[in-house]
Amino acid sequence: MIILGINETSHDASVSLIKDGEILFAGHAERYSKTKNDWYNNKDIYLDMLNYGTPTHIAYYEHPQLKRSRILLRGGAADWKPNIPMDLPVKYFSHHYSHACAGYYTSKFNDAVIVVLDAIGEYNTSTIWVGEGNKIKQIKKFNYPFSFGLFYSAFTQLVGLKPNEEEYILMGMAGYGDYQRYFNKVDEYFPSMSQQKYNFHKGIIDWDEPIGQQEKFDIAAAVQKVYEQRLMEFMRYAKAKTGKENLVFMGGCALNCSANTKLWDIFSDIWIMPNPGDAGSSLGAAAALYGKHLNWQSPYLGYDLGGDYPVQKILDGIFEDGIVAVATGRAEYGPRALGNRSILADPTDPDIKNKVNLIKKRELFRPFAPVVMAEHASEWFDMNYESPYMQYAVKCLKPDLIPSVVHVDGTSRVQTVTKDQHPGLYTLLEKFYSVTGVPILLNTSLNIKGQPLLNDMNDVKIFNEINRFNIIT
Ligand SMILES: [Fe+2]
Repeated sequence: MIILGINETSHDASVSLIKDGEILFAGHAERYSKTKNDWYNNKDIYLDMLNYGTPTHIAYYEHPQLKRSRILLRGGAADWKPNIPMDLPVKYFSHHYSHACAGYYTSKFNDAVIVVLDAIGEYNTSTIWVGEGNKIKQIKKFNYPFSFGLFYSAFTQLVGLKPNEEEYILMGMAGYGDYQRYFNKVDEYFPSMSQQKYNFHKGIIDWDEPIGQQEKFDIAAAVQKVYEQRLMEFMRYAKAKTGKENLVFMGGCALNCSANTKLWDIFSDIWIMPNPGDAGSSLGAAAALYGKHLNWQSPYLGYDLGGDYPVQKILDGIFEDGIVAVATGRAEYGPRALGNRSILADPTDPDIKNKVNLIKKRELFRPFAPVVMAEHASEWFDMNYESPYMQYAVKCLKPDLIPSVVHVDGTSRVQTVTKDQHPGLYTLLEKFYSVTGVPILLNTSLNIKGQPLLNDMNDVKIFNEINRFNIIT
């Protein structure tokens, strides 16, 4: 059985292919169509997927009947149906079950509570599951309009950002604000885990104060604070209800790396798959049909540029210019560049931040992330766990030494690397460390603001021409 998993018509279409528990391919539609957060899969991604195998079965990440009824309620087309690209047997799984399977079946756990929090699935918005052995069972569900994701997205929109896309910018802005100014006001919209009556789907339509730049930062800080408090309540509830020590956290909310850090106060071990949002659900649906744990090795599962990791060229470039871009091997499955489609730079140079921002044409307040050799992480950051996919923002212990990777609030969104995880990137860090005594590089995604990560050689060519840059391949 070779299973094609499909996710589309939400905001991050993707395709996955698995065979006997091996993940052959997993990629994002946007990287092929060059349309950020593309809702639909395209011919090019399917053609690339076929390089890795020919599917015999299809798994779809939502229940079309339920989805159709919701689209109808919204005033959408009554004849909506999913695009199934091949004439093969199709199995449909619910939106939140696909999230749960993407998380649990890529984890190392045989016993865990699985929490899924997003904006909305078909109707579910927050679900709690138990994973034991190969079985996943739902314990509790909350339906629309109660929603962690819609709460966060509505405020994202209120400050002038794109909902369902730019929540991560709101999270970055929170570091610049004073949460106390609007805490009580924002808290009224989401006063407790069970009392959230406001329907966020239409946005925050009753905000009655002018919003300038400082207000935006202060609102962001209050929203992040309220979100974290409610999240902790929800997670404590999930733990009490199931008695589990291991957490699998999925859904778009699991991308909030500032809040995620606090979950280590509740659970002994945590797995957040590197693609916890809807784009991860093509793999989740495929895993649901397989019904067992997958052989999870790494998130480098997309388009293949080939080549060995160009360690020496990158190192030479960093020592010469302080900054390089690299595009090599298979593309990351997930929103973060984890070394194969990355801009890498010297974290000790305080000016490097401005240079990277100029290349990426993005807001100056946005933080950059460090990638660190896993065994040195706890010397530089307040953490005693690994964060292989940049999922936790933790306090930096030596901010003066690596100023370009520390956010204004003193935290860094850390990526830890072991030799097994990415031998090339690890060797690069090892060499940089042997010369500088710093086992860390700045790592940010290789794209221009508002555009998807670079995927293929043509993207590399265009990027080089626009920026008069020389990406290492
Ligand atoms: Fe979702």
